[in-house]
Amino acid sequence: MRQTAENLRAQGNTIAFVPTMGYLHEGHLSLMRKGRELADILVASIFVNPAQFAPGEDYEAYPRDPERDAALAEQTGVDILFTSQKNDLYPEGYETYITQTHLPGHLCGQSRPTHFTGVMTIVAKLFHIADPNYAIFGQKDYQQLAIIRKMTRDLDFNIEIVGGPIVRESDGLAMSSRNKYLSPSQRQSALQLYRSLQEVQKLVDSGETKAAVLIETAGNIIAAAPETDIDYIAVCDPDTLADKKIIDRPALMALAVRVGQTRLIDNTILYPQVDNAG
Ligand code: PAJ
Repeated sequence: MRQTAENLRAQGNTIAFVPTMGYLHEGHLSLMRKGRELADILVASIFVNPAQFAPGEDYEAYPRDPERDAALAEQTGVDILFTSQKNDLYPEGYETYITQTHLPGHLCGQSRPTHFTGVMTIVAKLFHIADPNYAIFGQKDYQQLAIIRKMTRDLDFNIEIVGGPIVRESDGLAMSSRNKYLSPSQRQSALQLYRSLQEVQKLVDSGETKAAVLIETAGNIIAAAPETDIDYIAVCDPDTLADKKIIDRPALMALAVRVGQTRLIDNTILYPQVDNAG
């Protein structure tokens, strides 16, 4: 991959890169289409990264379907699909990991304290290997996107990080490889994540600015659905991810909920009412 990227760049091509853990869905494919538009060569990777799973999480169970993924990637215009084995990227004796001071401590980092170190480490490695001009990440994983943007600046990667909007099923459920784990009744419960975000936006539209009210509203909607266990619901600054008490400018509402054994995340940007009086 590295040699191929080097040759392509030497010939004057630009490269767009979409890293994934596979079991591809329309969310992933939307990022690939964006990449297809941005650069001459589109590279995607599939690697279920052990470093971002904690012991007891779903590394072994994570859904995998390499043949279907290869066909979807090809149909979507991927020129090079980079896949790798655990031992190639983390050989015996591997010892180097990337940390970041602030952003990983918020939101998902509270219950997954080692997760973003695993994500940053693999993304940095993949950036070195694929040598892209552009890398595309989904806003579904808002915190991940923010952390990768920061890492890219801090570590002087010469890569433009591009974000893509959340792709949803027709009933609103954010697409995720993990949706496969849901039973039909759990899938019904999972719909409440997006519904709660929509209800909260309605409250904001009618003038509510108190984060505590918004969080309580979303919490009640989700908790009323069977088999749900809320990890967090937060209203925070979209740049620093620090909690906000009052929404006086656009704010990120992010949540993580266990539905049965499956941990799902979703988020939206809440836009406060424009104050015409002033
Ligand atoms: P994965 O969960 O496979 O997601 C790969 C990319 O697809 C990420 O940028 C993610 O934000 C995006 N994505 C997933 N679901 C989406 C949806 N419904 N709408 C839009 N984009 C969506 O995220 C990872 O893998 C890994 O952490 C990775 C970055 C590959 C590092 O291992």
